[in-house]
Amino acid sequence: MSARLLRGIAELTTNDPSLGDGSPLGRLTDAAMVLDDDAVVWVGPASRAPAADHAVDLGGRAVVPGFVDSHTHLVFAGERSDEFAARLAGQPYDGGGIRRTVAATRAASSADLLAAARHRRDRAHRTGTTTIEVKSGYELTVEGEVRLLEVAEEVTDEVTFLGAHVVPPEYAGDRESYVELVAGEMMVACAPRARWADVFCERGAFSVEEARVILTAARQHGLGLRVHGNQLGPGAGVALAVELQAASVDHCTHLSDEDVAMLAGSSTVATLLPGAEFFSGDPAPSGRRLLDAGATVALATDCNPGTSYLTSMATAIWLAVREMGLSPDEALWAATAGGARALCRTDVGNLGVGARADLVVLDAPRAVHLAYRFGDVIGEVMTARGTPGSSRVPA
Ligand code: NIG
Ligand code: FE
Repeated sequence: MSARLLRGIAELTTNDPSLGDGSPLGRLTDAAMVLDDDAVVWVGPASRAPAADHAVDLGGRAVVPGFVDSHTHLVFAGERSDEFAARLAGQPYDGGGIRRTVAATRAASSADLLAAARHRRDRAHRTGTTTIEVKSGYELTVEGEVRLLEVAEEVTDEVTFLGAHVVPPEYAGDRESYVELVAGEMMVACAPRARWADVFCERGAFSVEEARVILTAARQHGLGLRVHGNQLGPGAGVALAVELQAASVDHCTHLSDEDVAMLAGSSTVATLLPGAEFFSGDPAPSGRRLLDAGATVALATDCNPGTSYLTSMATAIWLAVREMGLSPDEALWAATAGGARALCRTDVGNLGVGARADLVVLDAPRAVHLAYRFGDVIGEVMTARGTPGSSRVPA
């Protein structure tokens, strides 16, 4: 095992409140840290840094935890730029385009799907993402969803079964049978390949009652729960997620005061996806309102071809700052520790002693430059041994 000393860190964000300034960001200035192949083994002032086998001087740059992108749809074929043009012309998003991506994905080879997913994952990694969640949801058959989960497993450890994305065309006249399939045979085939299940609970996708059936079955199969809720309009997606103690409810674009209060009183993380509103031209929800109420907020990209073709968490950070009322520090926390909470992980999203050695060296002296310079300050991305997407993982 080799220890590396990083010194010359002008500002170190650890997200460990027991370190540094004692804030949620656990921030130190003029800091150093020691990493082994897997984990952070020491953090402290540069003046007290221990000796190590290798020392790297970062020359007064800032270090932050690697970003945790807790919501992506990376495995898909084709693109829908024509829909983006329609959005620009004022046509609203209704989820109908998902079926076009389903058709393109069904027609693609597994090799092509894997290459495309790897490519997107690698782009995310280059822009600082060291943990990434990936959903299925673009085949909507038993064999097809299994195939997408197998592709997802190749690019990440955080795999989500989203058989309940929309009702596929062949079940258009019989949605009850599709819900039965997802909660039954498809769940049995998919659960062993996933850590999570998600449902798009929205008008035009699945009702609250349908979502409850599917998520309850998922829980019985040992999966953690996630919900796409309150994206296109007000609804009971958030209430359902809180009722079922889902790890996260994502989008949260249209929230009532009751929804906000429920989230604040729960363990369910409110995940905001600023790329989706920006891409679609919709008003962004207020992250400020959620934070002021006491909810836990995460930021993610929602990378997908229909509402947010975004791989960069650094971009999500500056969008959240400008569009959602988060401070630069709150946005950074939400993109790191918040994402980790949304995935029920304590080993990522922070740089306390024992955390995975996943970090981003910024080409900037302070983390605020992530917002100030539109995310364009990602320097070197370092990852623990075995991180999917890490340059240290043999191809
Ligand atoms: O998170 N809302 C559901 N799913 C995606 C969009 C998928 C698509 O349009 O292809 C989302 O926005
Ligand atoms: Fe999504």
